[in-house]
Amino acid sequence: MATRGGLATAVVVVASLAAALGAPGDVDPWRPLWHFTPPAGWMNDPNGLAHFRGEYHLFYQYHPFGPDWGPMHWGHAVSPDLVRWRHLPIALAPSPGGPDAGGCFSGSAVDDGGVLSVVYTGHGERQVQCLATSPDGRVFTKHPGNPVLASPPEGFPPEHFRDPKVWRAEGHWWMVAGSKRDGRGAALLYESADLRRWSFKAVAAESDGTLGTMWECPDLFALGDRHVLVVSPEGLDRRKALAFVGRLDYGTGRFAIESRHVADHGFDFYAPQSFEDAGGRRVVIGWMDSWASKAWPTKAWGWAGAMTVPRLLRLSVDGTPLWAPVPEIETLRRDPASVPPGDFGPGLHVLDAVQGDSLDLEVEIDPGAASEVALLLRRSADGRQETRLKYDRASGTLAIDRERAGAGEGGVHEAPLALAAGETLRLRVLLDRSSVEVFAQDGRVVLTDRVYPDAASVGVALEAQGGRARLVGLRSWRLLRP
Ligand code: FRU
Repeated sequence: MATRGGLATAVVVVASLAAALGAPGDVDPWRPLWHFTPPAGWMNDPNGLAHFRGEYHLFYQYHPFGPDWGPMHWGHAVSPDLVRWRHLPIALAPSPGGPDAGGCFSGSAVDDGGVLSVVYTGHGERQVQCLATSPDGRVFTKHPGNPVLASPPEGFPPEHFRDPKVWRAEGHWWMVAGSKRDGRGAALLYESADLRRWSFKAVAAESDGTLGTMWECPDLFALGDRHVLVVSPEGLDRRKALAFVGRLDYGTGRFAIESRHVADHGFDFYAPQSFEDAGGRRVVIGWMDSWASKAWPTKAWGWAGAMTVPRLLRLSVDGTPLWAPVPEIETLRRDPASVPPGDFGPGLHVLDAVQGDSLDLEVEIDPGAASEVALLLRRSADGRQETRLKYDRASGTLAIDRERAGAGEGGVHEAPLALAAGETLRLRVLLDRSSVEVFAQDGRVVLTDRVYPDAASVGVALEAQGGRARLVGLRSWRLLRP
């Protein structure tokens, strides 16, 4: 293990050095400027998110030896502000002969009296939960008594028991782990006094048959006067992560679902994990890719996988999740530009003042008499390439249409969004080389897609069909490499 872990670390060091010297963003058109990506190799889920001793920690499912999923390690990075990340040596590597010999799968981190403690899944023929600790948040020692949790309760398959998320409440440690029963996803709740001995409390929640066949990466936390359970289900259309708002009863261990929401309607959002930072904010980071992807254009450049912008999660007064990019991202803003209000359409209206592949846009549109309004992004000068963010009044949907976005897969990914009479469409859009993140109506509706356009496709335009629409306002900034 030492050799393989050491080799993995060497790969990261060399890749980071190459990144520093060669600035891969300059040659690789799709390497994000400011979203977190691995130095080289494959990345999936965010793991172990924590704010520990004044530093943000991001771990991630990592295969350092190539741009495809393989034996899972935990990559590691730290940041003072969720924007400027520094790569660190690999935190966990599989131990041959150990309970994690087949991979160190997803898990979480907590501060246990000044010791950063990670609980993760050891993958093999069975999936078991393991503990590793670090007093300095740098070097991790696996608990000699691993696994700390060897089997799920009766009736749940030992080969589908993973992704422990741990938190502290009511004077105890709690864990939710993902599993399934009779083809229905389930979140299992456990309790512990010391992170080492766990007792099963209850099935916190379970699919009713429509919510996926296996729940990966469950996350359960208090928010406002309620609790939120987020799961990443297998067996659902496009494997969209779901957020259930409800209440957890610590006495019975049961989570009562009050309302169901899709966390992000785009194609590329999965396995989100949250944590509470020192300011009491609930911050969520998701994997900005999808297991449903067939094309991975960045593999040609030796890497795959990106994290979303860190998102603040709040609940509206009616209990709807509201997602917003952390304000720290605004420190990357340069070159403000704006477009004066005015009518547009039918037809195309190119915005010469706004161009770029790394942009922060705030746009307000009154669809007026139009049946469809669209914000065209990453548009080529000849108009053949574009990523189309479109609002369709008749169907009441907001969609990212990447049919003509460039390399990679096409597809139109839509979210229900019915505007009330007289209500304007309010959009915050973040672009970063190969990503589009859209937060509509104060973050009630979110859509995230990866796109792979030519580097020269940097145009922005508006289009209305079926009648005239009105641009109420548009402000934009370039987002710099941190
Ligand atoms: C989710 C997931 C987890 C698992 C990990 C393996 O994307 O399948 O359930 O722990 O990825 O890399």
